[in-house]
Amino acid sequence: KKVRLISVPFWLGSGRAGTELGPESIIKAGLVRKIRSMDIHLESEHEVDCPIKPFSQGTPSKIKYLPEVMEMSGLVGEQVYRAAINDSFPLILGGDHSVAIGSLAGLTGHYNNLGVIWFDAHGDLNTEETTPSGNLHGMALAVAIGKSNFKLTDIPGAGSLIKKENIVIVGARDLDPGERELIRSEGITVFSMHEIDRMGIETVVKKAIEIAGNGTDGIHLSFDMDCLDPQEAAGVGTPVPGGLNYREAHFALELLSESQRVTSMDIVEVNPLLDYDRRTARLAVELASSLLGKRIL
Ligand code: ARG
Ligand code: MN
Ligand code: MN
Ligand code: MN
Repeated sequence: KKVRLISVPFWLGSGRAGTELGPESIIKAGLVRKIRSMDIHLESEHEVDCPIKPFSQGTPSKIKYLPEVMEMSGLVGEQVYRAAINDSFPLILGGDHSVAIGSLAGLTGHYNNLGVIWFDAHGDLNTEETTPSGNLHGMALAVAIGKSNFKLTDIPGAGSLIKKENIVIVGARDLDPGERELIRSEGITVFSMHEIDRMGIETVVKKAIEIAGNGTDGIHLSFDMDCLDPQEAAGVGTPVPGGLNYREAHFALELLSESQRVTSMDIVEVNPLLDYDRRTARLAVELASSLLGKRIL
Protein backbone atom coordinates (compact mmCIF):
# COMPACT_ATOMS: atom_id res chain seq x y z
CA LYS A 1 0.00 0.00 0.00
CA LYS A 2 1.27 3.43 -0.96
CA VAL A 3 0.33 6.55 0.97
CA ARG A 4 0.82 10.16 -0.06
CA LEU A 5 0.70 12.73 2.73
CA ILE A 6 -0.76 16.08 1.73
CA SER A 7 -0.45 18.88 4.31
CA VAL A 8 -2.86 21.79 4.01
CA PRO A 9 -2.02 24.60 6.46
CA PHE A 10 -5.27 26.52 6.17
CA TRP A 11 -7.66 28.22 8.60
CA LEU A 12 -9.63 30.74 6.55
CA GLY A 13 -12.64 28.44 6.21
CA SER A 14 -13.13 28.42 9.96
CA GLY A 15 -12.87 32.12 10.79
CA ARG A 16 -10.46 31.27 13.59
CA ALA A 17 -6.70 31.01 13.29
CA GLY A 18 -4.86 27.93 14.51
CA THR A 19 -5.78 25.06 12.21
CA GLU A 20 -3.09 26.20 9.76
CA LEU A 21 -0.70 24.71 12.35
CA GLY A 22 -2.55 21.38 12.32
CA PRO A 23 -0.47 19.45 9.76
CA GLU A 24 2.81 20.32 11.45
CA SER A 25 1.43 19.38 14.85
CA ILE A 26 0.12 16.01 13.61
CA ILE A 27 3.49 15.25 12.03
CA LYS A 28 5.32 16.32 15.21
CA ALA A 29 3.04 13.99 17.12
CA GLY A 30 4.60 11.13 15.17
CA LEU A 31 2.52 10.46 12.06
CA VAL A 32 5.43 9.87 9.69
CA ARG A 33 7.25 7.68 12.20
CA LYS A 34 4.10 5.67 12.81
CA ILE A 35 3.39 5.14 9.10
CA ARG A 36 7.01 4.13 8.44
CA SER A 37 6.80 1.55 11.24
CA MET A 38 3.85 -0.07 9.50
CA ASP A 39 3.90 -2.17 6.34
CA ILE A 40 3.19 0.88 4.21
CA HIS A 41 5.18 2.73 1.62
CA LEU A 42 5.07 6.43 2.47
CA GLU A 43 5.65 7.74 -1.02
CA SER A 44 6.05 11.41 -0.48
CA GLU A 45 4.96 14.35 1.59
CA HIS A 46 3.54 17.46 0.01
CA GLU A 47 2.72 20.76 1.62
CA VAL A 48 0.15 22.74 -0.30
CA ASP A 49 1.14 26.37 -0.69
CA CYS A 50 -2.27 27.75 0.17
CA PRO A 51 -3.22 31.26 1.30
CA ILE A 52 -2.38 31.80 4.98
CA LYS A 53 -3.35 35.46 5.11
CA PRO A 54 -6.57 36.86 3.72
CA PHE A 55 -6.29 38.35 0.24
CA SER A 56 -6.48 42.15 0.30
CA GLN A 57 -9.66 43.35 1.99
CA GLY A 58 -12.50 44.00 -0.37
CA THR A 59 -15.96 44.84 0.87
CA PRO A 60 -16.71 42.38 3.67
CA SER A 61 -19.17 39.76 2.47
CA LYS A 62 -21.43 37.41 4.36
CA ILE A 63 -19.47 34.35 3.23
CA LYS A 64 -15.97 34.70 4.61
CA TYR A 65 -12.84 34.20 2.48
CA LEU A 66 -14.53 32.55 -0.49
CA PRO A 67 -11.76 33.47 -2.98
CA GLU A 68 -9.14 32.10 -0.57
CA VAL A 69 -11.07 28.86 -0.07
CA MET A 70 -11.45 28.45 -3.84
CA GLU A 71 -7.73 29.02 -4.37
CA MET A 72 -6.83 26.50 -1.65
CA SER A 73 -9.30 23.95 -3.04
CA GLY A 74 -7.84 24.09 -6.53
CA LEU A 75 -4.30 23.57 -5.20
CA VAL A 76 -5.32 20.73 -2.87
CA GLY A 77 -7.34 19.16 -5.65
CA GLU A 78 -4.29 19.02 -7.93
CA GLN A 79 -2.21 17.17 -5.36
CA VAL A 80 -4.99 14.79 -4.40
CA TYR A 81 -5.76 14.03 -8.03
CA ARG A 82 -2.10 13.25 -8.72
CA ALA A 83 -1.96 10.87 -5.78
CA ALA A 84 -5.16 9.12 -6.83
CA ILE A 85 -4.17 8.56 -10.46
CA ASN A 86 -0.86 7.20 -9.19
CA ASP A 87 -2.76 4.63 -7.09
CA SER A 88 -1.55 6.16 -3.86
CA PHE A 89 -3.82 6.61 -0.89
CA PRO A 90 -4.19 10.37 -0.34
CA LEU A 91 -4.02 11.24 3.36
CA ILE A 92 -4.90 14.92 3.66
CA LEU A 93 -3.97 16.79 6.84
CA GLY A 94 -5.96 19.95 7.56
CA GLY A 95 -6.51 22.62 8.11
CA ASP A 96 -10.13 23.41 8.76
CA HIS A 97 -12.89 21.34 7.18
CA SER A 98 -13.14 23.51 4.05
CA VAL A 99 -10.01 21.61 3.00
CA ALA A 100 -12.34 18.71 2.17
CA ILE A 101 -13.68 20.77 -0.75
CA GLY A 102 -10.19 20.50 -2.24
CA SER A 103 -9.93 16.79 -1.50
CA LEU A 104 -13.26 16.13 -3.15
CA ALA A 105 -12.39 18.30 -6.14
CA GLY A 106 -9.29 16.17 -6.78
CA LEU A 107 -10.95 12.85 -6.04
CA THR A 108 -13.96 13.46 -8.30
CA GLY A 109 -11.49 14.20 -11.08
CA HIS A 110 -10.38 10.58 -10.77
CA TYR A 111 -13.38 8.61 -9.48
CA ASN A 112 -16.55 8.61 -11.54
CA ASN A 113 -18.80 8.04 -8.60
CA LEU A 114 -17.40 8.75 -5.16
CA GLY A 115 -19.08 7.96 -1.83
CA VAL A 116 -18.32 10.05 1.26
CA ILE A 117 -18.41 9.19 4.97
CA TRP A 118 -18.29 12.39 7.02
CA PHE A 119 -17.44 12.00 10.72
CA ASP A 120 -18.45 15.23 12.43
CA ALA A 121 -20.27 16.76 15.39
CA HIS A 122 -21.75 19.10 12.78
CA GLY A 123 -23.56 18.67 9.49
CA ASP A 124 -21.46 21.11 7.44
CA LEU A 125 -24.59 21.43 5.31
CA ASN A 126 -25.24 25.16 5.54
CA THR A 127 -25.80 27.20 2.40
CA GLU A 128 -25.23 30.90 1.76
CA GLU A 129 -28.80 31.42 2.99
CA THR A 130 -28.66 29.31 6.16
CA THR A 131 -25.13 29.78 7.49
CA PRO A 132 -25.17 31.40 10.94
CA SER A 133 -21.43 32.16 10.82
CA GLY A 134 -20.45 32.72 7.19
CA ASN A 135 -17.66 30.17 7.70
CA LEU A 136 -17.15 27.86 4.75
CA HIS A 137 -16.12 24.86 6.85
CA GLY A 138 -19.76 24.74 7.96
CA MET A 139 -20.84 24.55 4.29
CA ALA A 140 -18.37 22.02 2.86
CA LEU A 141 -20.81 19.15 2.43
CA ALA A 142 -23.51 21.37 0.92
CA VAL A 143 -20.87 22.55 -1.57
CA ALA A 144 -20.00 18.92 -2.34
CA ILE A 145 -23.58 17.94 -3.20
CA GLY A 146 -24.32 21.22 -4.98
CA LYS A 147 -26.92 22.66 -2.62
CA SER A 148 -25.15 26.01 -2.16
CA ASN A 149 -24.53 28.61 -4.85
CA PHE A 150 -20.81 27.92 -4.57
CA LYS A 151 -20.44 24.35 -5.80
CA LEU A 152 -17.71 21.74 -5.93
CA THR A 153 -17.83 21.95 -9.71
CA ASP A 154 -16.69 25.60 -9.51
CA ILE A 155 -13.22 24.28 -8.62
CA PRO A 156 -11.02 23.71 -11.69
CA GLY A 157 -10.33 20.00 -12.15
CA ALA A 158 -13.33 18.79 -10.18
CA GLY A 159 -15.45 16.03 -11.71
CA SER A 160 -19.12 15.71 -10.88
CA LEU A 161 -20.94 16.59 -7.68
CA ILE A 162 -21.20 13.99 -4.92
CA LYS A 163 -24.56 12.22 -5.00
CA LYS A 164 -26.62 12.82 -1.87
CA GLU A 165 -27.52 9.09 -1.88
CA ASN A 166 -23.86 8.22 -1.30
CA ILE A 167 -23.05 10.51 1.62
CA VAL A 168 -23.34 9.57 5.27
CA ILE A 169 -22.77 11.78 8.30
CA VAL A 170 -21.64 10.03 11.49
CA GLY A 171 -21.51 11.50 15.00
CA ALA A 172 -23.67 14.59 14.49
CA ARG A 173 -25.07 16.39 17.53
CA ASP A 174 -25.09 20.07 16.59
CA LEU A 175 -27.19 20.89 13.52
CA ASP A 176 -28.48 24.32 12.56
CA PRO A 177 -32.19 24.68 11.63
CA GLY A 178 -31.42 25.06 7.91
CA GLU A 179 -29.24 21.95 7.98
CA ARG A 180 -32.00 19.91 9.58
CA GLU A 181 -34.38 21.12 6.89
CA LEU A 182 -31.94 20.16 4.11
CA ILE A 183 -31.33 16.74 5.64
CA ARG A 184 -35.07 16.14 5.70
CA SER A 185 -35.84 17.47 2.22
CA GLU A 186 -32.89 15.72 0.55
CA GLY A 187 -33.15 12.50 2.57
CA ILE A 188 -29.49 12.59 3.59
CA THR A 189 -28.38 9.77 5.88
CA VAL A 190 -27.27 10.99 9.29
CA PHE A 191 -26.22 8.64 12.07
CA SER A 192 -26.30 11.10 14.94
CA MET A 193 -25.04 10.28 18.42
CA HIS A 194 -28.58 9.09 19.13
CA GLU A 195 -28.34 6.36 16.48
CA ILE A 196 -24.85 5.44 17.67
CA ASP A 197 -26.16 5.01 21.23
CA ARG A 198 -29.09 3.00 19.97
CA MET A 199 -27.44 0.66 17.45
CA GLY A 200 -23.81 0.74 18.49
CA ILE A 201 -20.91 2.03 16.43
CA GLU A 202 -20.34 -1.30 14.64
CA THR A 203 -23.80 -1.38 13.06
CA VAL A 204 -23.59 2.30 12.20
CA VAL A 205 -20.23 1.91 10.45
CA LYS A 206 -21.42 -1.15 8.51
CA LYS A 207 -24.49 0.72 7.31
CA ALA A 208 -22.37 3.74 6.44
CA ILE A 209 -20.08 1.61 4.26
CA GLU A 210 -23.10 0.08 2.52
CA ILE A 211 -24.56 3.48 1.69
CA ALA A 212 -21.34 5.25 0.69
CA GLY A 213 -20.21 2.11 -1.16
CA ASN A 214 -23.43 1.46 -3.05
CA GLY A 215 -22.52 1.72 -6.74
CA THR A 216 -19.46 3.86 -6.05
CA ASP A 217 -15.88 3.31 -7.19
CA GLY A 218 -14.29 4.83 -4.09
CA ILE A 219 -15.12 6.02 -0.58
CA HIS A 220 -13.62 9.18 0.88
CA LEU A 221 -13.47 9.36 4.67
CA SER A 222 -13.59 12.94 5.90
CA PHE A 223 -12.75 12.92 9.58
CA ASP A 224 -13.43 16.07 11.60
CA MET A 225 -11.71 15.60 14.97
CA ASP A 226 -14.65 17.33 16.65
CA CYS A 227 -16.70 14.14 16.14
CA LEU A 228 -14.87 12.97 19.24
CA ASP A 229 -15.94 13.98 22.69
CA PRO A 230 -14.06 17.08 23.91
CA GLN A 231 -12.77 14.95 26.79
CA GLU A 232 -10.72 13.05 24.21
CA ALA A 233 -10.08 15.81 21.69
CA ALA A 234 -10.20 19.26 23.25
CA GLY A 235 -7.94 20.85 20.64
CA VAL A 236 -10.61 21.73 18.08
CA GLY A 237 -12.24 25.07 17.24
CA THR A 238 -15.87 24.05 17.68
CA PRO A 239 -16.09 21.39 20.43
CA VAL A 240 -19.50 19.90 21.23
CA PRO A 241 -20.14 17.68 24.28
CA GLY A 242 -21.49 14.17 23.93
CA GLY A 243 -19.25 12.85 21.16
CA LEU A 244 -17.57 9.58 20.24
CA ASN A 245 -15.38 8.15 22.93
CA TYR A 246 -11.85 6.86 22.41
CA ARG A 247 -12.84 3.26 21.87
CA GLU A 248 -15.76 3.95 19.55
CA ALA A 249 -13.55 6.12 17.34
CA HIS A 250 -10.80 3.52 17.17
CA PHE A 251 -13.21 0.69 16.52
CA ALA A 252 -14.93 2.70 13.78
CA LEU A 253 -11.64 3.27 11.99
CA GLU A 254 -10.59 -0.37 12.40
CA LEU A 255 -13.88 -1.47 10.84
CA LEU A 256 -13.44 0.99 7.99
CA SER A 257 -9.93 -0.32 7.46
CA GLU A 258 -11.11 -3.96 7.46
CA SER A 259 -13.72 -3.16 4.84
CA GLN A 260 -10.94 -2.21 2.39
CA ARG A 261 -13.35 0.21 0.75
CA VAL A 262 -11.89 3.51 1.91
CA THR A 263 -9.68 5.05 -0.77
CA SER A 264 -8.73 8.41 0.79
CA MET A 265 -8.95 10.29 4.09
CA ASP A 266 -8.91 13.82 5.49
CA ILE A 267 -8.09 14.58 9.12
CA VAL A 268 -9.20 18.11 9.87
CA GLU A 269 -9.89 20.73 12.52
CA VAL A 270 -6.93 20.03 14.84
CA ASN A 271 -6.13 23.44 16.32
CA PRO A 272 -2.73 23.35 18.07
CA LEU A 273 -3.41 26.71 19.75
CA LEU A 274 -6.13 24.91 21.73
CA ASP A 275 -4.29 21.59 21.97
CA TYR A 276 -1.92 22.45 24.81
CA ASP A 277 -0.59 18.96 25.47
CA ARG A 278 -0.79 17.84 21.81
CA ARG A 279 -3.23 15.16 22.89
CA THR A 280 -5.63 15.82 20.03
CA ALA A 281 -2.82 15.64 17.46
CA ARG A 282 -1.56 12.40 18.99
CA LEU A 283 -5.05 10.95 18.85
CA ALA A 284 -5.25 11.97 15.18
CA VAL A 285 -2.05 10.00 14.55
CA GLU A 286 -3.43 6.91 16.24
CA LEU A 287 -6.73 7.09 14.42
CA ALA A 288 -5.03 7.51 11.05
CA SER A 289 -2.87 4.46 11.84
CA SER A 290 -5.96 2.41 12.64
CA LEU A 291 -7.47 3.38 9.30
CA LEU A 292 -4.22 2.48 7.52
CA GLY A 293 -4.29 -0.98 9.09
CA LYS A 294 -2.65 -0.90 12.51
CA ARG A 295 -3.94 -3.73 14.68
CA ILE A 296 -3.37 -4.63 18.32
CA LEU A 297 -2.25 -8.18 17.56
N1 ARG B 1 -22.75 24.87 11.95
C1 ARG B 1 -21.81 25.89 12.32
C2 ARG B 1 -21.56 26.83 11.14
O1 ARG B 1 -22.11 26.67 10.09
C3 ARG B 1 -20.50 25.27 12.78
C4 ARG B 1 -19.77 24.48 11.73
C5 ARG B 1 -18.55 23.82 12.26
N2 ARG B 1 -17.89 23.08 11.20
C6 ARG B 1 -16.74 22.46 11.32
N3 ARG B 1 -16.27 21.90 10.23
N4 ARG B 1 -16.12 22.37 12.46
O2 ARG B 1 -20.80 27.73 11.26
MN1 MN C 1 -6.74 4.72 -9.02
MN1 MN D 1 -16.68 19.59 9.95
MN1 MN E 1 -17.29 19.77 13.08
